[in-house]
Order: sequence, then structure tokens, then C-alpha cells
Amino acid sequence: MPINNIVVLTGAGISAESGVATFRGPDGLWEGHRVEDVATPQALRRNPELVHRFYDLRREKLGTVEPNAAHLALARLDREWPGELLVVTQNVDDLHERAGLTRLVHMHGELLSALCASCGAKHRWPGAMPAGTVCPGCGEPALRPDIVFFGEMPEHMDRIERALADAQLFVSIGTSGAVYPAAGFVQTAAYHGARTLELNLERSAGSAWFDETRLGPAGTLVPAWVEEVLNSSPAYSGGGGPA
Ligand code: OAD
Repeated sequence: MPINNIVVLTGAGISAESGVATFRGPDGLWEGHRVEDVATPQALRRNPELVHRFYDLRREKLGTVEPNAAHLALARLDREWPGELLVVTQNVDDLHERAGLTRLVHMHGELLSALCASCGAKHRWPGAMPAGTVCPGCGEPALRPDIVFFGEMPEHMDRIERALADAQLFVSIGTSGAVYPAAGFVQTAAYHGARTLELNLERSAGSAWFDETRLGPAGTLVPAWVEEVLNSSPAYSGGGGPA
């Protein structure tokens, strides 16, 4: 079947070569914190100072990292792929955007965004956000990091489910497959007839669900895959592919 619709899922592994620590690697991002202490609604209620400081540090760190070859390759795919494309990222960094990717949704929130727990408004927030920061919209001291905590509903699920149902190719990059619902996207896409490909440093928890797995660093695997997919599309008229 010719490929027109592609869905790409990215996880922490795509940002690893930029210097952003992954969650479940040996240098795990939690930096001594248990997930329940920094990434749950209960933690935010119990110890808002700790949670806010944790995400302030991660936001600060964004200023010291740059998109890598894998982010740039997906941005190239976005520019040059004539069919449908949706990149769904679990990452809360902004490296996809900085690489120039536009067909993108953040399903686990964004470090550079603040969510008002009182009025529900979101505000772009590049600086520090101490506990009790006042919402510029409603004036309540209720701003929190716009991060989907464990137990909360991931964002953009309707759009993601629709894209998965229409996809002919589903590609998962740099994710351990440990966190649902993202870990189940491969099964949804396959159920609807998509070919499924995993690009990861090591086999993920759901590796057996994929038609194909390529092991290696994203900075090498992703540019090679993008080149391949652009050249294989009959609809693609750039980059040396058939017109
Ligand atoms: P993980 O840290 O669980 O997994 C990262 C994956 O990337 C692992 O399978 C690594 O082998 C792989 N990896 C590491 N370096 C790589 C490289 N250079 N190239 C390719 N792959 C590499 O991160 P996620 O799967 O993204 O949720 O974690 C999912 C969610 O768990 C996160 O979004 C976060 C966390 O709790 C929230 O914040 C809500």
C-alpha cells in the first residue's frame, strides 16, 4: 500500500544526544526524586515548592541544549513530505519546535508553558515559576507547570487517535514503551493496518508489536530513515526521489 499518512511518536531518547537526560536511563532525570514526589497531582499539593523547583531547573536547562540531527531530520520530513504527518511527542522540551517542526503535538505538556489551576488558561512561560505565581489571566496565585502528571489525562488524544487510525506508517523513536497510553499507539496503528517501525537504542518494552526494529542512536537512525522515506514516496518530488 502506498504511504500517505505517517504518525511518529517520540520520547526522551530523541533528545538524549542533545544532552537532555532520559527518564529510565542510568543517569535518570529524576535526580534522586521518586516520581511520586515530583510528577503527581498529590506531590504538587503536598510539596509545591519542590515540584516547582524541579521543573524550574529543567526549564533552565533548556537554554543550554540544542536540537540534534534527529530533530532536524524530522523537521526536514515535515517540510518535504507531501502527505499527512503528525509527530506526537511525549517530551516536554522544545527541541522539535526549535528544529523547525510544525506538525507536532505535545501529549505530556510543555516546560515552556504554565497552566492556571484556577481558570485553566495556559500562558507561555520561559522563566522561573515559584509556587504561588499569580496567573496573568485571572489573578489567582495558581500557576503550575503545564506538565501532564501521572494520573492525569494526556493531551490531544482525539487528534492522535484519529491520526493513528488513518496512518499507513507508524514510527516510534527513542521511547521505552513503559508509559501508557503512548506505549499502546503501536497496537492501535497496527490494528488499523499501519506498518510499524521502531527506532531506538535498545528494544523497548513493546518491541514485539513492531514489524521492524532498528537499533542505534536516534541521531544516526532518524536522518537515514527520513532520507529513505522521502526517496520512496511516489508523491515526493524533491530530494532526488521519483517525481
Ligand atoms: P524513557 O527514559 O523511559 O526511555 C527512553 C528510551 O530512549 C529508552 O528506551 C532508551 O534506550 C532510548 N534511548 C536513549 N538514548 C537514545 C538515543 N541516543 N537514541 C535513541 N534512543 C535512545 O523515556 P520515555 O519513553 O520518553 O512522562 O518516557 C515516557 C514518559 O515517562 C515521559 O514522557 C515522562 C516519563 O514519566 C511524563 O512526563 C508524563
